[in-house]
Amino acid sequence: VTTVVVNPATLGFAAVPHNKNDIVTVPAGYSVTVMTRLGDPIVNNAPNYANDGTDTDFASRIGDHGDALTWYGLNAAGARDDNSSTRGVLVQNHENLNVQYLHPNGPTNVSSGPRPAGEARKEIEAHGVSVTEFRDSGNPGWAVVPNSALNRRITPNTPVVFHGPVRGTDFLKTVAATDGINGTGTINNCANGHTVWATNLTCEENWAGYFRRDNSGAGTDNANRSARELTALRRYGVTSNSGNYAWSSAPSGDQMFRRWDARATAASATQDYRNEPNKFGWVLEVDPYNPNSVPRKRTALGRMGHEGAWLGNLTSGKKIAIYMGDDSRREYMYKFVSNAAWNPSDAQAADRLAVGDKYLDAGTLYAAKFNADGTGTWLPLVHGQVPNRPATGTDEEYVFASQADILVNTRLAADAVGATPMDRPEWTGTNPVTGEVYLTLTNNNAAGRPLTGTDAANPRHYNDPKGTSNQLGNPNGHIVRLREKDNESAATTFTWDIYLFGADSTDASAQNVNLSGLTTANDFSSPDGLWFSRTTNPAGQHHPLMWLQTDDGAFTDRTNNQMLAALPGQVGDGGARTITNTNGTQTAQQATFVGAAATAATLRRFLTGPLECELTGVDSTPDGRTLFVGIQHPGENGEADAPSSHWPQSQTGTNSGRPRSAVVAITKNDGGIVGL
Ligand code: FEO
Ligand code: CA
Ligand code: CA
Ligand code: CA
Repeated sequence: VTTVVVNPATLGFAAVPHNKNDIVTVPAGYSVTVMTRLGDPIVNNAPNYANDGTDTDFASRIGDHGDALTWYGLNAAGARDDNSSTRGVLVQNHENLNVQYLHPNGPTNVSSGPRPAGEARKEIEAHGVSVTEFRDSGNPGWAVVPNSALNRRITPNTPVVFHGPVRGTDFLKTVAATDGINGTGTINNCANGHTVWATNLTCEENWAGYFRRDNSGAGTDNANRSARELTALRRYGVTSNSGNYAWSSAPSGDQMFRRWDARATAASATQDYRNEPNKFGWVLEVDPYNPNSVPRKRTALGRMGHEGAWLGNLTSGKKIAIYMGDDSRREYMYKFVSNAAWNPSDAQAADRLAVGDKYLDAGTLYAAKFNADGTGTWLPLVHGQVPNRPATGTDEEYVFASQADILVNTRLAADAVGATPMDRPEWTGTNPVTGEVYLTLTNNNAAGRPLTGTDAANPRHYNDPKGTSNQLGNPNGHIVRLREKDNESAATTFTWDIYLFGADSTDASAQNVNLSGLTTANDFSSPDGLWFSRTTNPAGQHHPLMWLQTDDGAFTDRTNNQMLAALPGQVGDGGARTITNTNGTQTAQQATFVGAAATAATLRRFLTGPLECELTGVDSTPDGRTLFVGIQHPGENGEADAPSSHWPQSQTGTNSGRPRSAVVAITKNDGGIVGL
C-alpha cells in the first residue's frame, strides 16, 4: 500500500461561509474572471450575444448548461503543449437548456408541440460540446480568443462515426444511416474524461428523454417492435410521448427534427428512426487539436446514462482502465479494461483518434459488485459469460444474442450478472498518488431505494425534516472509493470503503445523518463533480487536492451550490461502523460498512455559486495556478420576463439581464497554487 505524503498537511484558505448571494464567492485572496458564457460567439464571426432571446446561430456560439471541462495546452505556435499554463483550448460539454431564456418570451408549445422550426433548431444547436481557445497574457490576464482556428462547436447535428463492437450492426441502422456506421451528433453531454494522448471523452447522460415514442399502444410503434426491443426501451426509459422539447413536432421533412421521433412507423428499421435511441448513451472521443476530425463513439465502453469516463493511473506495459458511473437511481458502476497494454510512446502520436482506436475499441467491460466485507468484484459483461436476464414485471426473459447486444443493452447485462445497484453514480476520479478510484453517489430517495434496500455500499436511509424532492432515503449522498487488487488496472477484485457522507451539520434529527462529522465550514449535499488536481506542478511536491462539486436540492435552503477542497486519505483508514436506519414509520434497520471520518482540516468549502446554479466542470492549468470551474444553469427556476439570477452580470455588480451558464477562471492574487 502506497503511503500518502500530505504536504502541506492543511488546506491553505479560509472556508467560504454558506450564502445565497448571486455571485461566485471565493476565499479572501482569490479572484474570479468570467470566461466563456452561453451565447458567446466563438466561430464563423457570429455576432455578439444580445441575451434577449433574439439570438440565433447557436452552432457558432457557446452552448447552454456548460458542464464538464478540460484544459488542453498550446505552445506559442498554437500546437499541442501539455505543459502550457498560459495558452490552451478548453473543451466543455453543454448538457441541457434553460429554455425559458433562449427565446424572446420563452418557448412556444414546448411540452408537446408543434414547435416553430427556428426555436427547435436553436435548442438543438445549444447542446453538445465547445472547444474554445483561452489565453493568459499576464495583463490584463485571462481572455477568450474569439474565432481562433481551433475553436469549434460539436452539436447534435455534427457528423460522428461509430467504432468498436457495435459498429455496423443492425442496432445502429436507420433511414439516415443504413450502414450502421455513421451517426449524427451527441446530446446531453454531462461529465467527461481525458486521455494521455490528449483527446476528450464526452459522455451522453440523460439522452433517453429526447425521443418521442408512442406508449398508448394505439399506433404502430409497439406493434412493429419485438418484445426484446420493448424491454430494452423500458429499461433505458425511452418512453416519452413527446420527447424533451418536442423537437420532432417541428416542420416535418427535415431530418434535424424528424430523427427525434423514434416511433416504429415503417415496415423496417432502415425506413424510420426507431433505432435512433441506440445511437446515444455512448462515450464520444473528440480530438481537440484537430477541428476537422470526425468524433468517434466508442461502443466498447457500453451504453448507459454515462456520467463520466475517467482513466485509472497508467503503467507502461499494463492495460488501460476507465471508470464510469451510470447516473440514475439504482444503476451501476463500470470499468472498461483495454485489450492493448499501454505504450507510453503513443502519448504524443499525431493521429490521436487512431490511438483511441487501439485502446478504446477492444477490451472488457465490467460492472461492480460491492460486497459487505469491504471487498468487491468486477463482473465481466462478456457474451457467453452473462446469463439470461430473468423475466421481471412485464419483461420477458432477455437472452443476449451477441457482444453488440450486451454493449447496447449494458444495463440489462449488469442486471443479469448481479452488479450492486447504487445511489446514483455520478463522477469518477483517480487519485494520482495512490491510484484509488473515487465515485460520487449523489443521492437516492425512498422510491429508488426503500429502507429495507440498504447495503454496505449504500447504507444510509433517513427522513430529512427539511428535504424537498429527495426527502426520504439518502438525500445528501456519499462517496465511495476503491483500490484495485495489487494496484492492477486489469484486476477483477478490489477493496473499498466509504470516504465521506454529505449532511447538513445542523441536522441532529438522527444518529445516521452527519456520519462524517461535518461542520458549517464543510457541510454539503449531493456530491456530483469530483476531480483530483493535476500533479505536474510542482511535480510530486504536494499532495493532490481533491475537488468536490455539488448539485443538490436538499441543501439549497441554506446555501447555493458549492465546491469543496479535500485532502483524502486512503481506503481502510477508517473503521467498521454500524448505523441504525429509520424513516419514522418502519421498523429500524441496521447497516454496517467501512468508512472514514472527515475532519475540518482535510475538507473545506472553497467556493459557492450564484443563485440556482449547479457547480459542474473543473480543471486547472498544469501549473495549478488557474482553476477553471463551470457554473451551470444559474437562475434555472426563473422566467424570461422575471429572471431569478442575473449572473454573470451580477459578478461585477450589474443586477439585471438574463442569467447565463459560464466558465470562470479562479486565480490566487499572490500567483500561488489554487487551494494551497
Ligand atoms: Fe448530468 Fe448526473 O449529472
Ligand atoms: Ca453530474
Ligand atoms: Ca447531479
Ligand atoms: Ca444541472
